[in-house]
Amino acid sequence: TKIAIHGVPMDLGQGRRGVNMGPSAIRYAGMFDRLNRLGCEVEDFGDIYVDTRQKAEEDRSKNLQEITRVNQELAERISTNIEKGYFPLTIGGDHSISIGSIAGVSAHYENLGLIWYDAHGDLNTDDTSPSGNIHGMPLAVALGLGNQQLTNIQHADRKVQPENIVIIGARSLDEGEKKLIHELGIRVYTMHEIDHSGMSHVIKDAIAYLSSKTDGIHLSLDLDGLDPEEAPGVGTPVVGGMSYRESHLAMEMLAEADIITSADFVEVNPILDEKNRTAQIAVELMGSLFGEKLL
Ligand code: ARG
Ligand code: MN
Ligand code: MN
Ligand code: MN
Repeated sequence: TKIAIHGVPMDLGQGRRGVNMGPSAIRYAGMFDRLNRLGCEVEDFGDIYVDTRQKAEEDRSKNLQEITRVNQELAERISTNIEKGYFPLTIGGDHSISIGSIAGVSAHYENLGLIWYDAHGDLNTDDTSPSGNIHGMPLAVALGLGNQQLTNIQHADRKVQPENIVIIGARSLDEGEKKLIHELGIRVYTMHEIDHSGMSHVIKDAIAYLSSKTDGIHLSLDLDGLDPEEAPGVGTPVVGGMSYRESHLAMEMLAEADIITSADFVEVNPILDEKNRTAQIAVELMGSLFGEKLL
């Protein structure tokens, strides 16, 4: 695989500083060598500039202007690199950057699938968001819902159809998000399903659900999907998450199925971390996603 790395040092989508250092932390944890050793041809396109000065603008969608600008640029870079045959791998940065990465990928597929590996649904709109933080909105934006400046990036229509989405690991959903999940019939594997049936079953089911109706699948992995005991370097931790082992199994099964065509690893905040553990886990999961095997 030919991989294009795009770093997005974004922290404007949420309230805790330091997540803008996520891309450095992930690189520092040995991403390049890890992927290289697997035989991937890795090209690092560096970081997109983000003006991280907080703007006291509207509080419905905080820092909207800069988040829009950065996501437009990310979408364009990703789109160009897909044309050149790269697998786009985006490292963050808070989850608002998935707005741009999904927008950049979406034009290249007729029926894009999406796996949202996260403690949260990120399905808020500027009307339902309890916080005004845009990192809680990217999945809604991908569905064409919410602030138009965000939904219009690349093209105005829905980037992903609701029946092509699965959320894995959800355990913190706001009222508006639950309503949307029911209205649109989005498939959610909550921690209950994972505890009850096991990750192996959940991933098999998700693959069966998505693979026949999609021509490409984007994986958006928020490190807060993992349990904060194991991955503490995240801004919005939620107890009772997916384990390190479960997450590796998930990545290995996705690698085996050979269905993932682009990915994001987001929300790594080294300031809140312990000795860069969370970035280290991100890199290890990338290894599994790109086919690492013990034997
Ligand atoms: N649901 C909350 C909100 O809208 C938290 C979102 C957390 N999102 C994330 N990508 N970590 O503010
Ligand atoms: Mn499209
Ligand atoms: Mn999250
Ligand atoms: Mn998220």
